[in-house]
Amino acid sequence: MAKTLGIYDVDLPLLPRLHTGKVRESYRIDDEHRLLVVTDRISCFDKVLQTPIPDKGAVLNSISAFWFRKTEDICPNHFVRLVDPSASVVREAVPLAIEVIVRGYLAGSAWRDYSEGKRVFSGVQLPDGLQQNQAFSEPVLTPTTKEEIDREISPPEMISDGLVTEEQWTVLSDIATRLFERGTKELAPRNLLLVDTKYEFGLLGDRIILIDEIHTPDSSRFWYADSYAADPASVKALDKEFVRQWLLDNPMPDGSLPNSLPQDVLSEARRRYLRIYESITGEELELREDIKPEDRLAKNLREAGIIGSEADEKIEDDS
Ligand SMILES: Nc1ncnc2c1ncn2[C@@H]1O[C@H](COP(=O)(O)OP(=O)(O)O)[C@@H](O)[C@H]1O
Ligand SMILES: [Mg+2]
Repeated sequence: MAKTLGIYDVDLPLLPRLHTGKVRESYRIDDEHRLLVVTDRISCFDKVLQTPIPDKGAVLNSISAFWFRKTEDICPNHFVRLVDPSASVVREAVPLAIEVIVRGYLAGSAWRDYSEGKRVFSGVQLPDGLQQNQAFSEPVLTPTTKEEIDREISPPEMISDGLVTEEQWTVLSDIATRLFERGTKELAPRNLLLVDTKYEFGLLGDRIILIDEIHTPDSSRFWYADSYAADPASVKALDKEFVRQWLLDNPMPDGSLPNSLPQDVLSEARRRYLRIYESITGEELELREDIKPEDRLAKNLREAGIIGSEADEKIEDDS
């Protein structure tokens, strides 16, 4: 049975909403906890399409949960528990004002800038003569600020601007490097390369924890290792390229890109997201077929005591 609906607008009237992102909704549970709901919205070319891709949110949220569990020996993180495939209870932290981008390969925007002559990235000097998608000898950290438009920032600058202390940057850069190495190592037997990714951190008291999401297709680029080995310049990526390409191939009469997808494209995109979950985790994402995702989410939140009659009870912090 083809599903026609996904989770688009989330309506949890009794929970105060903290933030609406392009894809995620954040709610206040109590002073120490927030609820992150990953919707099925998809953002392409910086625009959120009007049609959700069923189960995409479950895929992304469950991938993050997978990695939070797999990396907690490297760095404590905000993840408390999965209340629904699409939603997690997380610890409320004070976000640090930088994003730590780690790159294993010269790809994406870094390659575009490099090919136009740029050599210094967030204070890191790259040598001449690198090719598109070439592997760096070791991961390169290119942190940015978290502003309206993120801008690159070098470690000395972020310290003198007071965004982080020198000690914090020492810890952050070490953790980010180790998280990236862990991701790389875990994915190697799965024929996947972790190309680049972005980490966000927050403070819990004076402790640094990993927040936001980790090693998802929204925060990271993945390549198929065999495809990279065959031809690095035309490597196959594990991402929303399928949807992007459909939009480009099906412009509106006025030449603009469509803002919705037809049913068959949605179904294929959904299948591809489920496959991404399997490729990364090695497991199938078990989703109930007998209940609409919105209803499943509401039911799980009620049963967890987050909404509805048991909402007064405190969230058990089972970590
Ligand atoms: N555990 C957490 N505590 C506090 N803030 C968090 C936590 N996890 C993520 N955040 C922040 O919440 C915001 C969520 O934004 P997001 O859903 O990614 O939307 P967008 O980035 O599209 O605005 C980000 O600024 C992120 O740093
Ligand atoms: Mg974000």
